[in-house]
Amino acid sequence: MSDMKKAVVVGGSNGIGLAIAENLIRRGWRVIVLDRCEGDCAMLPEGGWSYVPFDLLEFDGDVLAPLAADPDVGLLMVTAGVGRVADFEYFHTAEIERTLTVDTVSTLKLFRVFYDRIRGGEPFYAGVMGSIAGWMSSPSAALYAAAKAGVVRFVESVNIELEAAGVENRILDVSPASFKGSRFYGAENDLAQLSGLAEDIVTRLLARETRFIPQYEETFRAVLERYHDDPHGYGLHSYRYKHESGRLDNQKRVVIGYLSGTFDLFHVGHLNLLRRAKRQCDYLIVGVHDSGKWKGKETFIPLDERKAIVGACRYVDRVVDACVEDSDAWDIYHYDRLFVGSDYQGTERFRRYEAYFADKGVKIVYFPYTQGTSSTQIRNLIVKRTKEG
Ligand SMILES: NC(=O)c1ccc[n+]([C@@H]2O[C@H](COP(=O)([O-])OP(=O)(O)OC[C@H]3O[C@@H](n4cnc5c(N)ncnc54)[C@H](OP(=O)(O)O)[C@@H]3O)[C@@H](O)[C@H]2O)c1
Repeated sequence: MSDMKKAVVVGGSNGIGLAIAENLIRRGWRVIVLDRCEGDCAMLPEGGWSYVPFDLLEFDGDVLAPLAADPDVGLLMVTAGVGRVADFEYFHTAEIERTLTVDTVSTLKLFRVFYDRIRGGEPFYAGVMGSIAGWMSSPSAALYAAAKAGVVRFVESVNIELEAAGVENRILDVSPASFKGSRFYGAENDLAQLSGLAEDIVTRLLARETRFIPQYEETFRAVLERYHDDPHGYGLHSYRYKHESGRLDNQKRVVIGYLSGTFDLFHVGHLNLLRRAKRQCDYLIVGVHDSGKWKGKETFIPLDERKAIVGACRYVDRVVDACVEDSDAWDIYHYDRLFVGSDYQGTERFRRYEAYFADKGVKIVYFPYTQGTSSTQIRNLIVKRTKEG
């Protein structure tokens, strides 16, 4: 073990994670920021941090394992999170899945990967952003409240397990109400605005406290008491407050993607195509063609089997029978993005599609089709082997 203390901040490219990273660097920690992109990491003191790409929607334990095994890493703070204030009917099932995956499922998995360190004999500091919404009902933020309640209850429960095991380490649940200076509600990062909160959080993290609700004594002790005394009355009041204060973001906020193909002799190029498409949308619908022909030849694999293979791919949310024209599929699925191989760009068919979609807000995304073995190569190999007997 070296003298350099390392901290992992998941979600540290923006908002309170960025401010916590800054605070830790000033205290002499070297911070490893894990996030979807580098965000505003350039605001951090030079030389005190490094960045590792990490997407909680594509949980990759192989990125985390070396960090969890590194004896110099002595702190894990999870600040990555998503959510919005909207009535439940405005959430597509894809957004429900995304929110619970980021805020709850992947967050718990992170703690599991680091749990041997947390449960070990050495000091290890661990914390996560919950939310006051996780401590009571939050009408018009029902999904977010459910996601954060999962985090809050997890921390509360597992801390008892740690105590019972005679371990000193704890996980800190930070459960604030709305705060400013982050990108959560669409504003810019403002470290000056967040530095006080970050200081309070890090101080409690290093003291291995278990719960921090900012302004608890001044405000939230009474709020929580009111809620516990009369949850129904409190819920109605909270609902009215959100509706009257204009805080609602009542719109459907999901990008639906569509692509179609034959997917005969499924290969890595198909997989790459589906993965790239899913990165650019929230919900991917794949139409499988029942052409019976594949570039002038019969398909090798029957339609039902091709659909089953495509449907088993984790990037695909729904498999359907493809319409002959992708523009006809839009009439049924109202997708926002149409993904297609770049070799189709400029063809008569796609010029027609571009004209058709011009007033429908649909973006046609062209990308290179295959990397790796192609269907043609596989097909040629099968034909060759068949001839050879
Ligand atoms: N802001 C508030 O008023 C408030 C109140 C109570 C609790 N909280 C909680 O505090 C935490 C931090 O909030 P904040 O206000 O600092 O928000 P923020 O500025 O939006 O920062 C959140 C960070 O999480 C990252 N993130 C989102 N999805 C991710 C994913 N799939 N994989 C990896 N990283 C991902 C974001 O990256 P991208 O920007 O690339 O998406 C961003 O860097 C959240 O858990 C939030 O629920 C916030």
